[in-house]
Amino acid sequence: MDFQAIRKEYENHGILDSELTSNPMPLFRQWYNLAVEKCPGPWFEPNAMSLATSDLNGNVTNRIVLLKQIEDDTISFFTNYESEKGRQLSENPQASVVFNWPYLGRQIRIRGSVVRTSREISETYFHSRPRGSQIGASASLQSSIVSSRNELDERKTALQEKHRDQEIPLPDNWGGYNINPSQIEFWQGRLDRMHDRILYKDDNGWTSMRLSP
Ligand SMILES: Cc1cc2nc3c(=O)[nH]c(=O)nc-3n(C[C@H](O)[C@H](O)[C@H](O)COP(=O)(O)O)c2cc1C
Repeated sequence: MDFQAIRKEYENHGILDSELTSNPMPLFRQWYNLAVEKCPGPWFEPNAMSLATSDLNGNVTNRIVLLKQIEDDTISFFTNYESEKGRQLSENPQASVVFNWPYLGRQIRIRGSVVRTSREISETYFHSRPRGSQIGASASLQSSIVSSRNELDERKTALQEKHRDQEIPLPDNWGGYNINPSQIEFWQGRLDRMHDRILYKDDNGWTSMRLSP
């Protein structure tokens, strides 16, 4: 396949200076809400974001996680605290996430410090999930090696038996993380690669700047 021949023109209207808010979070919500509203189908998850973390030796990893909460100035996702990302975040509580909404020609990048959500928030979210997902999260020592698919299925069945007709307890190693943004960049694809990029930085208050595409 000739990847160089794949070429898409971005014909959307740009980011007007007059649309910029002094704090980027209202703009983030506005873009996120539009991404949800214009989502082209159930196969696309507009809340999917690529999350990059690193250990203190600079080994970077990334993976997709789902945005589950936007509260004041933080965004949250849920995971296993003993997974690779969990271990990296214990060592180095910094992360970067990126959303790609191709049907809007838009990308948002966020960098920030990360803290665990309260146990109460994790409890509430965990129990709002379908029972099968609660069992699945409990059965999986995420990112650890398993001897076989069978081992996983047996763990799931054992938990189903153990908690039959009872609430599934929130595992100690499972919960949320809040990302507190220190930088947010809004990217709008435009014609002839003359894209709009607006970067907000928090340095004792938010400032914004326009970047070259
Ligand atoms: C669409 C999609 C959504 C995902 N959402 C989550 C999520 O919200 N939380 C999570 O822990 N893993 C999620 N995953 C799985 C992660 O990408 C990853 O495989 C897992 O968290 C282990 O990552 P780690 O070994 O780097 O910690 C999702 C994967 C995909 C493809």
